[in-house]
Amino acid sequence: MSLLFSETTLGEMHLQNRLVMCPLTRSRAIDNIPNELMAEYYAQRASVGLIITEGTSPSPNGLGYPRIPGIFSESQIEGWKLTTEAVHAKGAKIFVQLMHCGRITHRLNMPLGSHILAPSAIAAAGEMYTDSEGMQPHPTPIEMTRADIEITINEYADAAKNAIEAGFDGVELHAANGYLLEQFIRPTSNKRARYGGPIENRARFVLEVVDAVIEAIGKDKVGIRLSPYGVFNDMPLYDEMDEDYTYLAQQINERELLYIHLVDHSSMGAPEVPESIKQMFRENFKGALILSGGYDMECAESDLAAKKCDLIAVGKPILANPDLINRWKTGATLNEPDMDTFYTPGAEGYTDYPTL
Ligand SMILES: Cc1cc2nc3c(=O)[nH]c(=O)nc-3n(C[C@H](O)[C@H](O)[C@H](O)COP(=O)(O)O)c2cc1C
Repeated sequence: MSLLFSETTLGEMHLQNRLVMCPLTRSRAIDNIPNELMAEYYAQRASVGLIITEGTSPSPNGLGYPRIPGIFSESQIEGWKLTTEAVHAKGAKIFVQLMHCGRITHRLNMPLGSHILAPSAIAAAGEMYTDSEGMQPHPTPIEMTRADIEITINEYADAAKNAIEAGFDGVELHAANGYLLEQFIRPTSNKRARYGGPIENRARFVLEVVDAVIEAIGKDKVGIRLSPYGVFNDMPLYDEMDEDYTYLAQQINERELLYIHLVDHSSMGAPEVPESIKQMFRENFKGALILSGGYDMECAESDLAAKKCDLIAVGKPILANPDLINRWKTGATLNEPDMDTFYTPGAEGYTDYPTL
């Protein structure tokens, strides 16, 4: 009896199975507006229980990469309706991932009048792709003022309301992988006073965003993604990692969020994410736990059976195999993902992966 392929609930929500599509940036949103092509791509993959969209900016200031979608304008809300309707017609639920890139951006990727904001004026090491001038060093961001903090929190709340208007079942706050929320959590990117220093302060911005989004749409529609031990986007390991994430788990538990979604990029060469920290989340957080990173069908079934988590999320396998569920059920071979077309505009390498 497969747990992975059997129905379940997430909060009050019915899911047709326990497989989740990971958030995957695909850079097909010309002018940052979701379109028909994106709706087709998501609908192709809607045999999973839950789709989490690609990182989607709650603000013009959060648009870090070329051609990523937003959810702060009327045309973006209208554009997303194409996707939510197409996905719901196939029986899946869909959450939008709210991703504010903060300092992981470049001026060339951002609209006129926007600002490169971060907790502190510290540039991330490394480079950012731009459509017009190729790879460019990450910029030094502006240290957010108290007013910037207030405005940004309101942008998250408004984006969450927009998401519900666009037909999403909920939102996932992207507090992982080195973007704005994690830039506040981590001591290397956050040197502030009231919003920096001890974890109670470094977690403050994230928790204020959580509270504002809960107030906007209700705690039963809000999940969060975290990457303990993640180093992506210049987020080095540090000594207090376990204590910091334990505090976050407890605070998120008090707020009764719908789920926590953990990142593990060790199968992609990143540092190991210790089992103990995943267990810590299981023990401290009473909502649903989603694990992701390097899963195949056997590992997914065995971690579900061992009750390590409630749902399993996959990225590259579903990117390359729109009919992943069918292929796993029948033991068919899988298409390999084509990295060259991960972020290129157009249908190639996006909606043209073959099905059985
Ligand atoms: C092309 C690509 C785009 C990604 N974009 C996002 C994103 O927008 N938000 C996010 O939280 N993670 C993103 N990730 C990370 C994935 O959600 C996931 O954690 C990772 O692919 C590991 O899972 P997998 O081994 O099943 O592929 C991306 C990964 C890939 C390969």
